[in-house]
Amino acid sequence: MARPIPASTPAFLYGTAWKEDRSAALTELALRQGFRGIDTANQRRHYFEAGVGEGLAAAYRAGVVTRDDLFLQTKFTYRGGQDHRLPYDPSADLATQVAQSIASSLEHLGTDHVDSYVLHGPASGRGWSDADAEVWAAMTRARDAGQTKLLGVSNVSLRHLLQLAASGAELPTFVQNRCFAELGWDRDVRAFCGDQNIIYQGFSLLTANPEVLQDPLVRRLATREHATPAQVVFRFARVVGMLPLTGTSDPDHMRQDLASQALTLSAGEVEAIEALCG
Ligand SMILES: NC(=O)c1ccc[n+]([C@@H]2O[C@H](COP(=O)([O-])OP(=O)(O)OC[C@H]3O[C@@H](n4cnc5c(N)ncnc54)[C@H](OP(=O)(O)O)[C@@H]3O)[C@@H](O)[C@H]2O)c1
Repeated sequence: MARPIPASTPAFLYGTAWKEDRSAALTELALRQGFRGIDTANQRRHYFEAGVGEGLAAAYRAGVVTRDDLFLQTKFTYRGGQDHRLPYDPSADLATQVAQSIASSLEHLGTDHVDSYVLHGPASGRGWSDADAEVWAAMTRARDAGQTKLLGVSNVSLRHLLQLAASGAELPTFVQNRCFAELGWDRDVRAFCGDQNIIYQGFSLLTANPEVLQDPLVRRLATREHATPAQVVFRFARVVGMLPLTGTSDPDHMRQDLASQALTLSAGEVEAIEALCG
């Protein structure tokens, strides 16, 4: 079955990790500042998904947005990535855990479907395992049942993706990875995504790459564009085809991150940034 690439995918995702009891207020603030894509996870250790849902509800009540304006993305996280606050019965089989986790996410987010449902990370760093195949099949069934429009995988290597493809299973619409400039901004995985019509979502674009923010070229481009080095990085990410994430808690940074899309970088400048560290 062909994977539809949604025309409605926003240009930026607002990430809700590590917000704890500020999750509701910061989600609502991000929507007020103009974000229309929200990334979360049913992983209480790093995310407060129910708080994100409260923020969405507040924004709906205030007339800031409607559900139809939004792209909502959440994740299934294996037992190993969770603390004791589990969204499923850990003694159940993996397919049941996926079914319980997505049902709980829909309740947290106050919706009957999400736009994207992501496997937070494969079971092993070594390759795509039988457990991943079982979870992926359950996620595909959830998609077929209308609980999510699209599917994604996160924290994957090229090896994971090649093995997933070789298994004959459906490929994801999204790959979400931490993006290190020293690895050519995840060059291998991005190339696979480009070939397979997969949208690459990049996170930690700023925090994984402090050297880029100090780089003379990036600083010179920022000065020329009356912008910040962070904005140059986000604009670069977009121009090379990434869907960037930001988890800023600062309203000025929220506006700057969205406004980065107006920066102008030449093809040569983009190539130079791409080659900076790797
Ligand atoms: N799939 C996964 O395993 C995974 C892992 C990590 C993260 N994520 C997702 O990605 C989202 C983003 O996480 P992240 O790792 O990229 O880190 P982040 O939470 O976005 O942190 C970025 C840092 O950059 C700063 N920042 C943002 N915009 C800025 C700007 N315009 N100027 C200067 N500083 C700026 C923020 O500080 P201020 O708050 O002061 O602006 C913050 O300290 C998370 O919330 C989560 O949704 C997914």
